[in-house]
Amino acid sequence: MSELVLVIDDNEGVRTALSILFSVHELECVTAASIEEGLAKLDNHPVRLVVQDMNFSEDTTSGKEGIALFHEIRQRHPDLPVILLTAWTHLETAVDLVRAGAADYLAKPWDDDKLIATARNLLELGEANQERREAAAARQRDRERLENGYDLCGTVFESSAMRELITVAVRVAPSDVPILVTGPNGAGKEKFADIVHANSSVASGPFVKVNVGALPRDLMEAELFGAEAGAYTGAQKTRIGRFEAADGGTLFLDEIGNLSLDGQAKLLRVLQTGEFERLGSSSTRKVTVRVVSATNADLRSAVANGEFREDLYYRLNVIEIPVPALRDRPDDILPLAYHFLDAAKSFDSGAEDSLLAHAWSGNVRELENTIRRASLLSQGDAITAADLGIAERGLHSSAVGRGSEPDAESIIHALDLAGGVVARAARNLGMSRQALYRRMEKFGIQK
Ligand SMILES: Nc1ncnc2c1ncn2[C@@H]1O[C@H](COP(=O)(O)OP(=O)(O)OP(=O)(O)O)[C@@H](O)[C@H]1O
Ligand SMILES: [Mg+2]
Repeated sequence: MSELVLVIDDNEGVRTALSILFSVHELECVTAASIEEGLAKLDNHPVRLVVQDMNFSEDTTSGKEGIALFHEIRQRHPDLPVILLTAWTHLETAVDLVRAGAADYLAKPWDDDKLIATARNLLELGEANQERREAAAARQRDRERLENGYDLCGTVFESSAMRELITVAVRVAPSDVPILVTGPNGAGKEKFADIVHANSSVASGPFVKVNVGALPRDLMEAELFGAEAGAYTGAQKTRIGRFEAADGGTLFLDEIGNLSLDGQAKLLRVLQTGEFERLGSSSTRKVTVRVVSATNADLRSAVANGEFREDLYYRLNVIEIPVPALRDRPDDILPLAYHFLDAAKSFDSGAEDSLLAHAWSGNVRELENTIRRASLLSQGDAITAADLGIAERGLHSSAVGRGSEPDAESIIHALDLAGGVVARAARNLGMSRQALYRRMEKFGIQK
């Protein structure tokens, strides 16, 4: 069925000869004696290739009818291959139509071998095109299903990697299993936490976000689990922890790799039983909290080093969503860039090329900052490669290294360049302010 050839020719001898020829070569063939019959068969059969005559009335030889038929077929089926059979006297018309999109022409009387070879080539090509179109249509359907069926929190994506991860995220969102989002700085981990909460069964409950790396480790425990007045120096009044605040909703634990071992033990217990105590209290509290955690650290090696509890690791990553670095999903670069750009502006082709060529060690956050900066600096409506300024910053960020963490020297350099403003230095390094603070602490760098 997939290889159906439609022959449209008013000459019965031609129809018979071609039917036999195609069937000998195991190509299914239907024939039509007139333009009307041909178009009707085209509507009713899964035709993959048309072989058509140019004249359909005994007294005409102008080829006009054939031209009209060809245009009619083109209009109905823009990609269907058409071979024209034409008299020697009308080769010029045929050549014109090939320019207009006919697949090929053969002069009558035709050469059987040549006709079969041409037909086979076109059928193969048509099949490949068809498969490509179907795959593209399937991708488009998946995308629409995601966009129409779920709240994707404004997430921009084009790559199949992201489409697949988003599919996983919305599929696991309604359950209560813990989710671990991993991936490099600024890749969009928090976006996935947003998607999970927005599509969960607790979407109308609280959504509490805690950056576990933002506070010293001992204060973090009070932050998460709460503390009674006087539980530690400086704790004047009772403090409600984030677990209590997130009861009946979602708790997003960002940079989970920074949790102290004590905190990890407590977290494991809440995950297992929903129970915990405030610091300085012996009364046990119980909550129902969906936990989504994120890290850009390699938790597996932290487990191997004894810095992260193995049992907690397995508890947290029942479902892991590994967000790829931006350079590993180049299809997302331009859609994201246009998303961050003012609607009134655009990129010229040089700018698009340099966006695609850049390594984006700071991932989507670096891209977002680059575009916002260029929008402000550019004079005209079209942003140029020079406006983006990523060539020079590319050199600078090569000190950071592709995907690796900046070393002490590049942090000091970035701080110098930023006049000691940590937020600015962090932006240029493509990392969060907290992450830079932690690196500074690690290397003993004062600003
Ligand atoms: N696919 C996306 N569509 C739209 N915006 C995005 C997308 N991915 C990331 N962003 C934006 O890029 C910025 C960084 O993303 P996000 O904070 O989610 O990254 P992250 O992986 O959590 O970063 P970090 O490692 O620093 O915590 C945010 O402003 C976010 O809104
Ligand atoms: Mg984050």
